[in-house]
Amino acid sequence: MVVGVPERGEPAVVELGAGTGAFTSAIQRRLGGRGRHVVVELNARFAAAVARAHPAVEVVCEDAVRLPELLARLGVGPVDVVVSGLPWVAYAGQPPLIGSVARVLSPAGVYTQFAYTWTRWAAPARRLAGGLREAFEEVVTTATVWRNLPPAVVYVARRPRLPAADGEITGP
Ligand SMILES: C[S@@+](CC[C@H](N)C(=O)[O-])C[C@H]1O[C@@H](n2cnc3c(N)ncnc32)[C@H](O)[C@@H]1O
Repeated sequence: MVVGVPERGEPAVVELGAGTGAFTSAIQRRLGGRGRHVVVELNARFAAAVARAHPAVEVVCEDAVRLPELLARLGVGPVDVVVSGLPWVAYAGQPPLIGSVARVLSPAGVYTQFAYTWTRWAAPARRLAGGLREAFEEVVTTATVWRNLPPAVVYVARRPRLPAADGEITGP
């Protein structure tokens, strides 16, 4: 999930839905004090706990779909990496969220999102994965990580397509 975080430079990293902070710790280790790391977490308790545990992280307690305006407020962007811990089928695969992520990423940016293997082949999940491919030029799906409980894959999306004038992401 966090291999997109560059090991050099001063990257801008945004994490969506940090929960108990497993990805947060991994991102912080990889950054080693460089760049900026913004967490957008809707649950106030999780947001407060992550902020306490990671003073270097900028934590915003908001809905991730508002990402473009939240980052503008913080003066962050364009973003190098978006790491999403959001539930894929319930939320993160929805067009408004994918559009928000595509809008804030730099042209060379990378977006990682996990999906549980057992839900992947259901019609809604397949539709959502199609939406991801429309919004990004390249989407690579990793092998199943069986050690995760439940087992999961990671979608690694690169090169966001530019939004049309009405704000909708359009494929070829
Ligand atoms: C599956 S959990 C995150 C798992 C995380 N990797 C961990 O280590 O705990 C999903 C998180 O997304 C948050 N969330 C759900 N919908 C959200 C939204 N619309 N905006 C921001 N955060 C959201 C939830 O509050 C929850 O903390």
